[in-house]
Amino acid sequence: MIKVEGLTKRYARHVAVNNISFEVGKGEIVGFLGKNGAGKTTTMRVLTCFLPPSAGKASVAGFDVVDQSLDVRKNIGYLPETPPLYPEMEIGDYLTFVAKLKGIASNDVPKRVDEVIGRTALGDVRNKIIGKLSKGYRQRVGIAQAIIHNPPVLILDEPTSGLDPEQQREARQLIASLSGDHTIILSTHILSEVEQSCSKVIIINAGEIVAVDSVANLHLRRKGGEMVAIQVAGAPESEVRQKLELVRGVARVMPKDAPEGFVAFEIESLEQNAIRPDLARAIVESGWDLSELRTVGESLEEIFLDLTKSEATKAKATQEVAQ
Ligand SMILES: Nc1ncnc2c1ncn2[C@@H]1O[C@H](COP(=O)(O)OP(=O)(O)OP(=O)(O)O)[C@@H](O)[C@H]1O
Ligand SMILES: [Mg+2]
Repeated sequence: MIKVEGLTKRYARHVAVNNISFEVGKGEIVGFLGKNGAGKTTTMRVLTCFLPPSAGKASVAGFDVVDQSLDVRKNIGYLPETPPLYPEMEIGDYLTFVAKLKGIASNDVPKRVDEVIGRTALGDVRNKIIGKLSKGYRQRVGIAQAIIHNPPVLILDEPTSGLDPEQQREARQLIASLSGDHTIILSTHILSEVEQSCSKVIIINAGEIVAVDSVANLHLRRKGGEMVAIQVAGAPESEVRQKLELVRGVARVMPKDAPEGFVAFEIESLEQNAIRPDLARAIVESGWDLSELRTVGESLEEIFLDLTKSEATKAKATQEVAQ
């Protein structure tokens, strides 16, 4: 549904997006992740024909963003970072205006406006002036204008930014209800949102793509060996550590903060080694109390931070490991 090949976008001499490629299949919901300034909005603006690419190609629903921009726009609903709302207009009038602008036949406009107002739960405020709406309601109007012509593809730039937790949940539910018949790319800084809503993640860093994968696969591929957290009561740290380091399959034992009277470690196994039973045995057979033993998965946040570390930080980390 969306195909990006070798896309580059420069602003004067600054390269905002550098030779990126990815595809999004029909019906997928893709989370577009990246730090501030990574190039998310720029990519979205190219896909929605607001900016021409400097190099490379992009197509939406089979139409090229440069040569067939009118067809692309028909097939796309776009929620920009700052939705283009007219503050002096009432919601209902504004949506009627957008519907006509997007070429919906006059006879169908009232019905379609009612539909999107229902879908975005704006019924109670349809006669309110947009300028007087709270941020959350304005965001709903932004989504309403994006879906009014029922486009197969939705590009949502931070749809839940600035919303309170309840509104975020409502916006997520709305987006989920649009999935299935729509292909969606949404950018966000909320990683739990990606885990909840998205089938796939694209991570962009300094204009380059560093990962395109499912959330589940990202978790898997970042994990080398198993990581186990362990907490032991009433034992000296150095002795416990020595004991744990001797367990077969253990690669590293890292001390962690622990409450008074306890010692805690995170232990990394060598690849393909199940070390938990042996760790438990080593502690218990030494006569210590095992108060906690659990596998720790790498969170999406850690994965994200690792993938988007600057090269300088990565080089430093490598040096530290080597020492
Ligand atoms: N109109 C512009 N003129 C010049 N540089 C720009 C322009 N718009 C964006 N940039 C630069 O391009 C880079 C990518 O910006 P972009 O807005 O795409 O990032 P983003 O991933 O959307 O960030 P954020 O999470 O802050 O929204 C940044 O370095 C930014 O300063
Ligand atoms: Mg942005």
